Amino acid sequence: MNTSVSAGSVALVTGATSGIGRAVAVSLARRGAHVIVGGRDAARGEAVLTAVRSAGGTADLLLGDLADAGSAPAMARRATELGGGRIDILVNNAAVYPAHGRTPDGTHEDFAHCYAVNVEAPFLLVAELCPAMAARGRGAVVNVLSMAGRFGMPGFALYGSSKAALLLLTKAWAAEFGPSGVRVNAVSAGPTRTEGTQPFGTGLDRLAAAAPAGRAAAPEEIAAAITYLAGDDASFVQGAILDVDGGRNAT
Ligand SMILES: NC(=O)c1ccc[n+]([C@@H]2O[C@H](COP(=O)([O-])OP(=O)(O)OC[C@H]3O[C@@H](n4cnc5c(N)ncnc54)[C@H](OP(=O)(O)O)[C@@H]3O)[C@@H](O)[C@H]2O)c1
Repeated sequence: MNTSVSAGSVALVTGATSGIGRAVAVSLARRGAHVIVGGRDAARGEAVLTAVRSAGGTADLLLGDLADAGSAPAMARRATELGGGRIDILVNNAAVYPAHGRTPDGTHEDFAHCYAVNVEAPFLLVAELCPAMAARGRGAVVNVLSMAGRFGMPGFALYGSSKAALLLLTKAWAAEFGPSGVRVNAVSAGPTRTEGTQPFGTGLDRLAAAAPAGRAAAPEEIAAAITYLAGDDASFVQGAILDVDGGRNAT
């Protein structure tokens, strides 16, 4: 894809040390954005910096645990410093899949952890970063959702509801910040082969088989859609939820 990103843009990608986020970091960097790579694992983060540099891009690593969502504003300020005083693109990608899928097995701790990382941290990052984007009159936020937040599936109540919350936040933020030139959109991903979904084993293939595409995605296929929404080719796209799920939500 030849999607363009404004020269000199700075992007913060959360959860960029693995899977889809790593593919987004490389894709944005290849198109000229300076990327702040968010995550917790220093070794994997350094490997992403190397991948970005091999692709001819530039990046910095920003380590921090978003399970402590209250630390998100400080992380956003640190990201802004690393970005030379600006963040133009925010990709809210970091998320956790709760250990317990079935509702009766869920605990207070599971719920709090899932909502801290998947909902509260994106909320606080947007709260910290979008006013400056709005003041500059331009910016882009892309939230990473899941088909599990589009319809009910057994075993996905907690995770799916966190993604449904982020879906509504996407629309609310599009309404709130869009008039100031900040475009807020989302990609709703289907089953994708990443480090995070490795534990699902063949369950990922069974999930993927229900969609017209009939297969799981590669991280780069999801990253391509995120890159498009973050870039200038999507200049008139606001508040959109782009399903990149092999057709599952349509059927
Ligand atoms: N893969 C799929 O099938 C699929 C389908 C639909 C939607 N999605 C969505 O796509 C996004 C990426 O998924 P993925 O499968 O690529 O994930 P992944 O391989 O599990 O990677 C998750 C990323 O999030 C970071 N992260 C997790 N917990 C964190 C925390 N407490 N604080 C800071 N960072 C944290 C991880 O950082 P560290 O490893 O450095 O800790 C890692 O970089 C998520 O929003 C997910 O919900 C994925």
